[in-house]
Amino acid sequence: MRIIIMGPQGAGKGTQAAKLEEETGATHIETGDLVREEINQGTELGEKIQEYNERGELVPDEIIIDMTKPYLDENDSWILDGFPRNKEQAQALDEMLDEIGEDLDRVVVLEAPDDVLVERLSGRRQSEATGEVYHIEHDPPPEEGSEEDPGPFVQREDDTEEAIRNRLETYHEQTEPLKDYYEEKGILVTIDATQDIDEVTENVLQAVGEKDS
Ligand code: AP5
Repeated sequence: MRIIIMGPQGAGKGTQAAKLEEETGATHIETGDLVREEINQGTELGEKIQEYNERGELVPDEIIIDMTKPYLDENDSWILDGFPRNKEQAQALDEMLDEIGEDLDRVVVLEAPDDVLVERLSGRRQSEATGEVYHIEHDPPPEEGSEEDPGPFVQREDDTEEAIRNRLETYHEQTEPLKDYYEEKGILVTIDATQDIDEVTENVLQAVGEKDS
C-alpha cells in the first residue's frame, strides 16, 4: 500500500493516518514529525529548519526530500502525511517510485473550510509522553488523574494564530494545485473532513479499498 493523505492544516491528516496505520499495518510517515524531531534533538539541521517551522513556512525542498527518502526506501507499505507539498516534491516522489518500479495507489484529500481548521488547531493538544494527538472538545484525552491519563499536554509552537494563517496560505498556493496533478493520474479521492472523526475514518478506509462502500 502506497498512499498519500493530503489536506490543509487541521483537516485531520495525522489523526486519520494513525488510524489507517493501525488498521492496515502500513507505516505512517509524517514529515512534520521528522522536522520536529530534528529540532528537538538540537542537531545542526534542526537549528537550520527551526525558523521555517515556527513561522509556518515550508522547509526547503532539497532538505525535506533528503529527510523523507530513507523512510520511503525502508518501507514497502506506507501512508505519507505532509509530503509532497508542492510540484517539485511531487516530481521528486515520482522519481523515487520510478527507481523502484512502483506506483502510488491513492491520494486521499481531506477537505474542510479554513474557519473549521483554525478552531481545530487552536484546540489541539499533544501528550508529551505518548505523542498522541487530542482535541479539547472533539477528541478529549482520558480524564485527568485516571489510570490512562496521558498528560501533561503541550500545544505545538506553530499553532499560533499567525503561523496557522501562514500555513493555510501556503497550502492554498502551493499544495492545493497538486489535486489536479493527481486527478490527472486518476488516483485522487476527496473526502469531507468536517464529519466526525469516525465517519471520516470510514470514508478513508473505503477510499483505499480496506472497506466496502
Ligand atoms: P505538519 O506537522 O505536517 O503540520 P501541518 O501540515 O500544519 O498539519 P497539521 O499536523 O497541523 O494538521 P493535520 O491535518 O495532521 O491535523 P490533526 O490530525 O493533528 O508540518 C509542520 C511543519 O513542518 C510545516 O509547517 C513545515 O515547516 C514543515 N514541513 C512538513 N512537511 C513538509 C514538506 N513536505 N515540505 C516542506 N516543509 C514541510 O488534527 C488537528 C486537530 O483537529 C486535532 O486536535 C484533532 O484531534 C482534531 N480533529 C481531527 N479530525 C477531526 C474531526 N473530523 N472532527 C473534529 N476534530 C478533528
